[in-house]
Amino acid sequence: MKKILGILLFILMGAIVLSKEVLYVGTNAEFAPFEYMENGEIIGFDIDLINKIGEKIGKEIKIKNIAFDGLLPALQTNKIDLIIAGMTVTKEREKFVNFSNDYFVANQVIIVPENEGTIINMDSLKNKKVGVVLGYTGDLIVSKIQGVNKVQYNSAPSSIMALKGGNIDAMILDSAPAQSYVAKNKGLKIIEIDSEVEKYAIAAEKNNENLIKKINKALEEIKAEGIYDELIIKHFN
Ligand code: ARG
Repeated sequence: MKKILGILLFILMGAIVLSKEVLYVGTNAEFAPFEYMENGEIIGFDIDLINKIGEKIGKEIKIKNIAFDGLLPALQTNKIDLIIAGMTVTKEREKFVNFSNDYFVANQVIIVPENEGTIINMDSLKNKKVGVVLGYTGDLIVSKIQGVNKVQYNSAPSSIMALKGGNIDAMILDSAPAQSYVAKNKGLKIIEIDSEVEKYAIAAEKNNENLIKKINKALEEIKAEGIYDELIIKHFN
């Protein structure tokens, strides 16, 4: 009897050691090249990066695709452990979550039809119909300019469609996704503006300091070992 119990205990302990703890990571896969769907699979820079971090800290990563404005609530209600979603660190978001060190620097740009000549900066958006994505930092920035006819969309691709269809005059989006969508959609161009620098970081729950520390260490290693640069080349040509 004792022997059997001993064996069972041994097997149980082995199973515990072997089974990696899972980290549920929320994203919103409508933000190429950071996260997007291809053949029913969620792929992109962020997805590769978080998997590398998972390897470093010994956790299995399971990705959950959630609406962008549902990410923070999902984290706060423990439905997910982390967010990686090209998410910009903002004062407002910092009230609710802990951010890692930043892993990417971006800014906002304007996307217009190729033949558009009057939109040259943020001020020239006055009296224009400007597409934004609900809850994105670009949404907040456009809200600050008076006299803009802001139109909110649920995703960047749907705002791109509206722009191509002539339903809006311009749209605002983060620089890297803007380049990616303009490259894939004919007839659009990018107008650079002097917008504030935005830093993307991974978010964890407020009281999860320990996890953020581990992630920061993993991020440092990933950069030092050249893995970060490889991912940049892979996803940004
Ligand atoms: N950087 C912007 C923000 O934080 C947009 C992020 C959108 N990300 C996404 N995965 N859909 O608001």
